[in-house]
Amino acid sequence: SQSTTGDIRSAIRSIPDYPRPGVVFRDITTLLGNARAFRRTVDEMVQPWPGAKIDKVAGIEARGFILGGAVAHQLGAGFVPIRKKGKLPHDTVSIAYSLEYGLDEIEMHRDAIAAGERVILVDDLIATGGTATAAVDLLHRIGAEVVAAVFVIDLPDLGGAEKLRRKGVTVRTLVQFE
Ligand code: PRP
Ligand code: HPA
Repeated sequence: SQSTTGDIRSAIRSIPDYPRPGVVFRDITTLLGNARAFRRTVDEMVQPWPGAKIDKVAGIEARGFILGGAVAHQLGAGFVPIRKKGKLPHDTVSIAYSLEYGLDEIEMHRDAIAAGERVILVDDLIATGGTATAAVDLLHRIGAEVVAAVFVIDLPDLGGAEKLRRKGVTVRTLVQFE
């Protein structure tokens, strides 16, 4: 409902000029610390998939771990971390993606998801979509079925959600900030 979305939106703190002048940082620590807002956020994230058979929730480091763990619990699914390069101890699959300056790399354990498993991707926020697009490409490469990508926050001016939808991914976002 509108009021639920409003509760979620108003629980997010906006920090002007962080991490750089001119950027307004959307800080979800205030949402996570608010029991009612946190519960409503997780309930809203999974709302289209009641009782759906979801095998795994893949969460993107770092804030996607917090939300993704709660979403996995709610759906009765396993949780799989997608991490920045060099953090995972077993055999990995990795993919490079562009940042504003230069390249970064994310990876997951090769055996974390079997071919054909149904996966929901979770992160706190989609901006340019570089991170999420790389994560979806990684999941597709290992044969996962990406049922949806779910984010609390969309920054639509940066075009990431649209970019993912153009690739055929079902995208759910709860609140938008210009
Ligand atoms: C932020 C955010 C997303 C990503 C979105 O993470 O949590 O993962 O950036 O940006 P994009 O759509 O332009 O790729 P960040 O890189 O700050 O990593 P952190 O959560 O580990 O701090
Ligand atoms: N908040 C958190 N993460 C981000 C943001 C933001 O406003 N912009 C890009 N990544």
